[in-house]
Amino acid sequence: MVTARITVNGEEAPLAPAPPHTTVLDFLRERGLTGTKEGCAEGECGACSVLVARPGVNKPTDWVAVNACLVPVAALDGQEVVTSEGLATPGAPGTPPTLHPVQEEMAVRGGSQCGYCTPGFVCSMAAEYYRPDRRAHTGTESGADKGAGGACDAEHGPNGFDLHALSGNLCRCTGYRPIRDAAFAVGAPTDGDPLAQRREQAPPAPVATSYAQSDSVFLRKETLAETLRLLRERPDAVVVAGSTDWGVEVNIRSRRARCVVAVDRLPELRELRVGSDVLEIGAALTLTEIERRLDGRVPLLAELFPQFASRLIRNGATLGGNLGTGSPIGDSAPVLLALDASLVLADADAEREVPLAEYFTGYRQSVRRPGELIRAVRVPLPLSPVTAFHKIAKRRFDDISSVAVAFALDVVDGVVREARIGLGGVAATPIRALAAEAALVGRPWTAKTVEAVAPVLREEGTPMDDHRASAAYRSAMLGQSLLKLYARTTEAVSS
Ligand code: FES
Ligand code: FES
Repeated sequence: MVTARITVNGEEAPLAPAPPHTTVLDFLRERGLTGTKEGCAEGECGACSVLVARPGVNKPTDWVAVNACLVPVAALDGQEVVTSEGLATPGAPGTPPTLHPVQEEMAVRGGSQCGYCTPGFVCSMAAEYYRPDRRAHTGTESGADKGAGGACDAEHGPNGFDLHALSGNLCRCTGYRPIRDAAFAVGAPTDGDPLAQRREQAPPAPVATSYAQSDSVFLRKETLAETLRLLRERPDAVVVAGSTDWGVEVNIRSRRARCVVAVDRLPELRELRVGSDVLEIGAALTLTEIERRLDGRVPLLAELFPQFASRLIRNGATLGGNLGTGSPIGDSAPVLLALDASLVLADADAEREVPLAEYFTGYRQSVRRPGELIRAVRVPLPLSPVTAFHKIAKRRFDDISSVAVAFALDVVDGVVREARIGLGGVAATPIRALAAEAALVGRPWTAKTVEAVAPVLREEGTPMDDHRASAAYRSAMLGQSLLKLYARTTEAVSS
């Protein structure tokens, strides 16, 4: 039997005797790597950020920052992890280590006071430091280059550093300006940098894992067919990909699943295909991978991604997971409803395709049967030209929607020919705003139409009062979102 193990800062470490519900965070701290901190234990502070070697988008391997508090250590069997301790270069006996360039910049620019958040910031910053397509600005970029490379602005440094890389890291005492200064001051990795060189080699291959301790087990199969057979035998299994829900259940609600099955590395769930009439997105691609691989080709998704949780979460989270949980406030559902997406559901016998509009059946319930997996999301092409995603939340980033609204309209010769509006946060499930859609179709795309339809949109769903927003506020935001969409589209035409 092969012993489950991971490589941490270049050294192999067996997983045993850690129980299968052990998070990467707890595993590392047990080993004395206490630079990795626990703040919230639910993916919201980034104090636990570490780097994982993953299949790259522009190079064979990317160093990807993830929340160690959310990931089961067994999910990293055979994988490589680098912590804040592993970034520095050890000195000769009796001499201090040489700091990594991101650590050095944080130190000299006053980016750390109490230091609790610092190792997490450093790991998130290091992932951006090693992003292969990060490049310094020449000051002459224009058009697409400005957007892709990021023109220098409050969120993009002259060194090409995208501050969104730190959107999942909180600091309580330093203040963010010195941290931003450090991020915008880092240079490019040198030729001899071992982590930069590591990007040129293939990432560790996923390995089949069967890791059992006492009465629980973590399983990873190599193929979809094997996984589906396993799910038929173990309908009680908890399926994980990015584990962003699993981690919260374990840490906050003390849930201990007897059987956890990982699907995040199944090749059949990691394909992205653009055909002439359909875009198919594998259910286990992370949101970051989809964002980088689509590179703006689906504007509505491009608008969604920066507003979806944080970069740390998007590095693990998948569309399959976001839809599989059936949450009424998952941000991908309204967007995919507006895109008229369907889901490919697979079990051990067959596949079927279900329109997303028919997928949700109740609060956290769906037509997905025990033993069925979401294999892919299909988006029909061509895309509607007028789209927008409006997320109403208390914070700009890393927050849960009070209301989410996605629009996809076909406006031809000034008349709305087709309209799809996806809503989140106003009912027990994500819904289509069917009455408002019907009220728009066939009418001219004018202020008069929008003013007439906004009250219809306000009446959609059955919003509730809760700690995030009142029902009245949610309804008001629905109407406002249509007015905002119209203002934006006419601004675009007149500018
Ligand atoms: Fe806060 Fe992990 S401890 S994100
Ligand atoms: Fe104290 Fe960030 S330095 S929390």
